[in-house]
Amino acid sequence: MGILSLFKLDGEKAIVTGAGRGLGREIAIGLAEAGADVAVVDRLAKEGEETAAEIEKLGRKAIAIEGDVTKEEDVKKAVHTVMAKFGKIDILVCNAGIVSWIPAEEMEFEKWKEVMDVNLNGVFLYNKWVGRKMIKQKKGSIINVSSISAFLANYPQKQCHYNSSKAGVVQLTKCLAFEWAPYNVRVNTVCPGYMNTPLLKKADKKYLDQWASFAAQKRIADPSELKGIFVFLASQASSYFTGSVIVADGGYSLW
Ligand SMILES: NC(=O)c1ccc[n+]([C@@H]2O[C@H](COP(=O)([O-])OP(=O)(O)OC[C@H]3O[C@@H](n4cnc5c(N)ncnc54)[C@H](O)[C@@H]3O)[C@@H](O)[C@H]2O)c1
Repeated sequence: MGILSLFKLDGEKAIVTGAGRGLGREIAIGLAEAGADVAVVDRLAKEGEETAAEIEKLGRKAIAIEGDVTKEEDVKKAVHTVMAKFGKIDILVCNAGIVSWIPAEEMEFEKWKEVMDVNLNGVFLYNKWVGRKMIKQKKGSIINVSSISAFLANYPQKQCHYNSSKAGVVQLTKCLAFEWAPYNVRVNTVCPGYMNTPLLKKADKKYLDQWASFAAQKRIADPSELKGIFVFLASQASSYFTGSVIVADGGYSLW
């Protein structure tokens, strides 16, 4: 088998959460470009439908599902819809995430819980409900989106809830990789550095310049630059990867 054919996802069925915009949209399109049919989950219905339309333009099937990753009923309904329409789920990317900047001593408990709920609990819920299907199929690749914030305290913004949630995603990934390896279900995590997505829109230009200057490559990423790593982890090209933590940060965390 030629090396490039290992990256092909023809006939594979994927779910990407938070795929209405930003990194999630790029991941969903990347998987479709590699051959997969993709279910796009987002709480923003219009943006989800736009991503689904882009995927259909590539000649793949797409399902737009409006849903909140923090609501177990929404997660179960989404998994049911995808199974009914696609018949199986080979790939899951848990990408939906939120952030806010609040010093710990001023953080309302509700704000802490809001971020943990989307960034960690939502990942657990999708891993659990899709993992059950993959265990039955004896096949699956799950990719959870963490962040370099799992390992470092960002500067200058204060966001201990976000960073803790992303550290949780790394550990959840390792635990599930271990639990589900006997069922041929692989679980990996990608830790991006700063990317130019709507998540960073509210950030002052001086912060964007500062984060860029901290990266060895002296720039912030375009989210499309990360498509390749998700296709790799979803595909047979990464068949010996599970529990891996892959940092893609332009060298931000080197020093
Ligand atoms: N942008 C960065 O610099 C950066 C860096 C490291 C990690 N990340 C991570 O990458 C992922 C994508 O971030 P992004 O920058 O594309 O953000 P974004 O805000 O541009 O997109 C996030 C998407 O997730 C959706 N979403 C949020 N909460 C949801 C919920 N409860 N249920 C369903 N959908 C929900 C949003 O509607 C949005 O479409 C996040 O997990 C984020 O933490 C981003």
